[in-house]
Amino acid sequence: EQNPKAVIVIFGATGDLAKRKLYPSIYRLLQNNRIGKDFAVVGVGRRPWSNEEFRKNVNTSIENNVPEHEEMDEFLSHFHYHPFDVTNPGSYKELKGLLEELDHTYEIPGNRMFYMAMAPEFFGTIAINLKNEGLTSTEGWSRLVIEKPFGTDLPSAQKLNDEIRAAFSEDQIFRIDHYLGKAMVQNIEVIRFANAIFEPLWNNRYIANIQITSSEWLGVEDRGRYYESSGALKDMVQNHILQVVALLAMEPPIKLTDEEIRSEKVKVLRALRPLKENEVSDYFVRGQYGKGSIRNEDVPGYREESNVDPNSNTETFVAGKLTIDNFRWAGTPIYIRTGKRMPAKSTKIVVQFKDIPMNLYYNNGHNMHPNLLVINIQPDEGITLHLNAKKTGDGSYARPIKLDYCNNCIDGINTPEAYEKLIDDCLRGDATNFTHWDEVALTWSYVDTIAKAWSSVAAEFPNYASGTMGPDASDDLLAKDGYHWWPVT
Ligand code: BG6
Repeated sequence: EQNPKAVIVIFGATGDLAKRKLYPSIYRLLQNNRIGKDFAVVGVGRRPWSNEEFRKNVNTSIENNVPEHEEMDEFLSHFHYHPFDVTNPGSYKELKGLLEELDHTYEIPGNRMFYMAMAPEFFGTIAINLKNEGLTSTEGWSRLVIEKPFGTDLPSAQKLNDEIRAAFSEDQIFRIDHYLGKAMVQNIEVIRFANAIFEPLWNNRYIANIQITSSEWLGVEDRGRYYESSGALKDMVQNHILQVVALLAMEPPIKLTDEEIRSEKVKVLRALRPLKENEVSDYFVRGQYGKGSIRNEDVPGYREESNVDPNSNTETFVAGKLTIDNFRWAGTPIYIRTGKRMPAKSTKIVVQFKDIPMNLYYNNGHNMHPNLLVINIQPDEGITLHLNAKKTGDGSYARPIKLDYCNNCIDGINTPEAYEKLIDDCLRGDATNFTHWDEVALTWSYVDTIAKAWSSVAAEFPNYASGTMGPDASDDLLAKDGYHWWPVT
């Protein structure tokens, strides 16, 4: 397979995402021979930077994020800066000239990746101007990569979608959900569909429940302004968590193409039982962190953070019970939880299998430990299978044992970062790990009811101390069904 040749245009080139993720990823793609020398990056931003200033910034970003780097001058020479006013058609005309020049210099056949890594209010304007000014009509391909948030509810997502669809067709649009670039999220399908011992059991007859936890110990940091209008439900559940749910619950695709996989994911999201506004409190719990202690350091509550309303009703924690109404899953709940200022940064899936029909063995007077399959997404990457076995000389006692597979112990530092994978996929035209509009629409419509129910009643916040696993109500949610959260830290 030939390496792709393209100009990557980054809107928001001076922003945080570009610095932390995009430049280092492009560098690693070059290091790993996923792109050749025939590429260029155009940074677009409001600031009046020169190429030199831009390259200095890119250089710092590589130094801070990539441990081994060399031949930086050659790499940086591919980077060009274009100061830009999003609403001025003249800016697009100049950009067009620059892109044509770069096509010529690097012998690029008009392939363009337009990466939106800036304030979402401009996504639509930029897309339509790119089209109107002719930047997307070349001999090669044009693709639009678009970051979250993709709208703030279904109507606004629909509006944004209509705007970008006026300029790009669905198969040219790559909506980023960076969880889909994570090695172990991509491994969910492989674990399920490449192992004869899991797939036959992967249903409501053998699985009691599935638990997805994505916790962070960081607070809202300097993102108060954005987070106030979002909250954990829209920030994490609508996108990352529901994508993971779809991968866990989908039927095996008939082929590994983006259309086939997507169509199975969409079916799961369609089977997700929608909540009525008055049932939301039976299925979903919200929380907001108060002050507390994280890693032996006192930290303030959410309402004391900068750019946050001192009476804020915004949730920083969500737990929920999802039910999927189809033959495979009816009766098997999927519990999810995510939040900030929890004890650790950790994303894990626990699949709890049903108990065996009767206990033949003793486990120190307790019931047998159920079998668990734990998929460790981060920071450890791998799987752990909890079984029962007898130690030598243990009579008729059975004890829980663990089989561990650690993915990043083997691939180590070479495990590609999510963004590196996603940029690589997009350059190669593979949309499997991006979200299709149908998925976005279904997840928003599910989440909108919850948001609506919550916005109409003020919450009793704060209701969990920083450094804890969220409010008690999150434990009660599972206790009602006779389950509990398995420890994940
Ligand atoms: C982002 C959210 O999409 O995902 C952040 O906006 C969150 O609030 C982040 O911290 C979590 O991603 P990761 O890869 O660190 O688990």
